[in-house]
Amino acid sequence: MSLNSSSPAAVIVLAAGAGTRMKSSLPKVLHSIGGRSLVGHALDAAVSLKPEHLVAVVRHERERVVEHLLAHNADLVIADQDEIPGTGRAVEQGLEAIGSVTGTVVVTYGDVPLLTPETLNALVTEHQNAGNAVTVLSADVPDATGYGRIVRDDSGLVTQIVEHKDALKIAEETGDSTLVDITEINSGIYAFDGKILSQSLAQVTTENVQGEKYLTDVLELAREAGGRVAAYVTDDLMEVEGVNDRVQLATLGAELNRRVTQRWMRSGVTIIDPSTTWIDVDVELAQDVTIKPNTQLHGTTTIATGATIGPDTTLHDVQVGENATVRRTEATQAKIGPNANVGPFTYIRPGTVLGEHGKIGAFYETKNVNIGRGAKLSHLGYAGDADIGENTNIGCGNITANYDGVNKHRTTIGAEVRTGSNTVFTAPVEIGDGAYTAAGAVVRKNVPPGALTMNAVDQRIIEDWVLERRAGSAAAEAAQKARDKS
Ligand code: UD1
Ligand code: CA
Repeated sequence: MSLNSSSPAAVIVLAAGAGTRMKSSLPKVLHSIGGRSLVGHALDAAVSLKPEHLVAVVRHERERVVEHLLAHNADLVIADQDEIPGTGRAVEQGLEAIGSVTGTVVVTYGDVPLLTPETLNALVTEHQNAGNAVTVLSADVPDATGYGRIVRDDSGLVTQIVEHKDALKIAEETGDSTLVDITEINSGIYAFDGKILSQSLAQVTTENVQGEKYLTDVLELAREAGGRVAAYVTDDLMEVEGVNDRVQLATLGAELNRRVTQRWMRSGVTIIDPSTTWIDVDVELAQDVTIKPNTQLHGTTTIATGATIGPDTTLHDVQVGENATVRRTEATQAKIGPNANVGPFTYIRPGTVLGEHGKIGAFYETKNVNIGRGAKLSHLGYAGDADIGENTNIGCGNITANYDGVNKHRTTIGAEVRTGSNTVFTAPVEIGDGAYTAAGAVVRKNVPPGALTMNAVDQRIIEDWVLERRAGSAAAEAAQKARDKS
């Protein structure tokens, strides 16, 4: 594919529409697929053209949309659309926001998320190489309902675009359904000669079935003024598909995911079941990573080579080191070291850092904890606000009691420590290197290196307690039988 088009003067992304069919309090273009908002996808595709000006036209839920847009792209020019409706008016106001332009002006939609930089670039290249006044990105679709129809002349050039509702009206009035039957549709994405675009828009009226200023009217006007108007046909229908409701949101989300998982498989990642594996667009996977079924990788998650993730694992902004294993785990904003082992049934919260060869096992919850190289938290417990040294073994059922009801405190456990089952660390507290804790220890005071700590409550035996206090119970009966035998 030729990549030799010159950068456009502007890309104008239309995002003023209401998105009523989403039935949502969230503006449509802020809904996301693949971990990025719809308009975020549109802006990223636009940025790939390196335009001189990047413009977004807004109106519906202006404040919320603008805040999101500027967070995504600080250099963006915001253009407000007034009460005059229509895509033509939107583009007109987009142009007003940047003053007069010469050169190519590209128009895209904020609700068309799968359009790729490659297709956009091919459209602009074709437009510039052919010296067109307008080049519209079109597609041949099985059902053209709702779309503007591309009308071509005998030489294949475009004469006009007729909106669906206008085509229906013409068919009703004349009995001729030629226009309605056209299956080549307007995607709504175009490359224009900037000067011709602004001159034509000044002549566009709202005299049509919908009472809107149609951008599509520019094509006929440009042609009448002597310009060459052509269509660039794409056969990838998904790329030009817009989101109008949540069914389309899911369809395009699944399609994006299919493309993302395929890209990773082609670059050397094993994905056992792509249909149940969801990977956000910003995730990075190294070669020879294996992803097992029902796994979701979100945000800025990165997985290093040789690591195995899943099954049934959800990671948000997690870094996983080489050859690590993470199964049946939910983790957020955490770092899992090389050759470390996590899961099954593990809940890892922000600030967890697990060292190389470390382990966080079954039914563990962690938060804000540094776990040293080779340290193991194997089963049933909670570690929060703590530092755990190298090669320390934390016994079953240990808890860092980090919260005194008002403040959080830190637990510091040294290297090569061995803790007994059900140890409770009442923070703030420090355990020196090589220390031991006894089973059931409640550690309130600092433990020096190499010491054993236990709580001096002797185990008492009260003979016959069950026979006397639980007389007639199954336990008492069993006890009586055992006594009789001996
Ligand atoms: C438009 C095209 C139609 C094309 C279709 C592709 C016109 C007149 N028609 O249809 O030929 O087949 O897109 O989807 O252009 N928008 C604004 N301001 C407005 C109106 C729309 O910013 O006043 C934005 C919307 O947010 C949306 C896009 O423009 O992102 C398209 O609007 P929509 O109403 O969905 O398209 P149609 O006009 O139905
Ligand atoms: Ca639409």
